[in-house]
Amino acid sequence: MRILVAGGTGKVGAAVVEALRGKHEVLVASRTSEYRVDVGDGASIDRLFGQVGTVDAVVSVLGSTPFPQFTDLTTDHFRAGIANKLLGQIDLVLRGRPFVADGGSFTLVSGILAREPIRSGAVASTVNGGLESFVRAAATELPRGIRINAVSPTVVTEALDVYGDFFPGFAPVPAADVARAFVKSVEGVHTGRIYELD
Ligand SMILES: NC(=O)c1ccc[n+]([C@@H]2O[C@H](COP(=O)([O-])OP(=O)(O)OC[C@H]3O[C@@H](n4cnc5c(N)ncnc54)[C@H](OP(=O)(O)O)[C@@H]3O)[C@@H](O)[C@H]2O)c1
Repeated sequence: MRILVAGGTGKVGAAVVEALRGKHEVLVASRTSEYRVDVGDGASIDRLFGQVGTVDAVVSVLGSTPFPQFTDLTTDHFRAGIANKLLGQIDLVLRGRPFVADGGSFTLVSGILAREPIRSGAVASTVNGGLESFVRAAATELPRGIRINAVSPTVVTEALDVYGDFFPGFAPVPAADVARAFVKSVEGVHTGRIYELD
């Protein structure tokens, strides 16, 4: 398959690229990689798909949200998280639809905070919940047999240095395990699924 991995240079994304690369043609996109895209800018997404053309799968492993304490939380924090991780990935789907082959797929990334809150996690919980609801809804209406799923991991071992303090008592999962869920989504038959890795 010809697979576009947006965010393929990140901690989780690199493991996803590694898992797919042996068997598939993988095109890595991000703000700094060979295929340039800023998902906060719709014209940039259009340019990316114009450059890569038709693909069998679009995989998104990008997105960030702020983690302010609840007492400091403002609507600007929500605007930032929604614009980046939620609308950035939704826009990849909406603008990418015509470029995905019949029977192809989208796989997005959400996260455990959709189902299990932590302190300072209100924006991430909202965004991840929104993404998972979008995936379930889009799966019912995508045309031409195109599938869509989301991978929803707990904190990954490789990111404990950054996020470990936010997840006290949570068992981390290796990025390689998360990557297997992306492979299942891309190569499998499911649609509208949320692959939870706790
Ligand atoms: N790490 C975890 O423990 C964990 C757990 C659950 C869920 N997740 C989710 O998994 C996703 C990836 O996490 P991560 O830890 O791998 O993040 P990361 O290491 O910061 O990587 C983010 C990736 O996205 C790209 N990117 C960032 N902003 C972009 C933009 N505006 N347009 C295009 N590309 C952009 C980055 O490349 P450039 O800088 O080159 O653009 C990079 O490839 C996030 O949505 C995160 O919430 C992570």
